[in-house]
Amino acid sequence: MEQNKTIVIRPSREADVDAMLAIYRRHIRRGVEDGVDDNDTPQPDDLRDRRKNLKSRRFPHVVAVDGEKVVGYAYVVLFRKRPAYRYTVKHSIYVHHDHIGQGVGSLLMRGLIDACAAAGFRQMIGYIDADNVASLALHERFGFARVGLLPAVAYRYGHWADTVMVQRSLGSGSTTPPPPPPLSTR
Ligand SMILES: CC(C)(COP(=O)(O)OP(=O)(O)OC[C@H]1O[C@@H](n2cnc3c(N)ncnc32)[C@H](O)[C@@H]1OP(=O)(O)O)[C@@H](O)C(=O)NCCC(=O)NCCS
Repeated sequence: MEQNKTIVIRPSREADVDAMLAIYRRHIRRGVEDGVDDNDTPQPDDLRDRRKNLKSRRFPHVVAVDGEKVVGYAYVVLFRKRPAYRYTVKHSIYVHHDHIGQGVGSLLMRGLIDACAAAGFRQMIGYIDADNVASLALHERFGFARVGLLPAVAYRYGHWADTVMVQRSLGSGSTTPPPPPPLSTR
């Protein structure tokens, strides 16, 4: 794999939003994500709000930059909202179409895993279209196990499509209980 040594992973900033949106829109248009229509694609303000929301709640939200250019981004949300699930996140990763296959996804994944482990999350879950070979390979490389197959959960381009659910543990995973909450929240 051609590895671009100049790429840096850093927390996203407000000024990155337009570039992130352009990356996302392009993947939607290409049908990687949805293949449905463009009406539902997030507007800049949606992404801006989502990013702020995640950051204020300390969920990692990172970009890959090559110099000034944003070439990919990745973030996590809670897997489920109920309190018992607060140590489990669900992630998304998008790489700019001109930079696919150059190791950017791997750098983002490494950065996201490390940031999530440092933030105290214990499990990381991803949903991948069953025909997304690049994403399946990326997740396998980073130790995600295939924990489920959700048959026919999407309909796109005239076909029912399956989703693969993948999971890996972070930090000490399930081998230790979570740390006690800070005194202020007890
Ligand atoms: C999936 C995605 C994030 C991968 O990012 P990337 O920068 O292309 O990935 P990398 O170059 O770091 O490659 C990671 C692994 O996937 C493999 N891979 C990449 N593209 C591949 C392809 N088209 N077919 C098969 N394997 C592929 C690489 O060989 C590498 O494995 P290796 O190190 O064992 O060789 C990127 O393709 C993308 O943004 N796709 C569109 C959005 C998307 O599907 N996001 C994931 C949603 S779950």
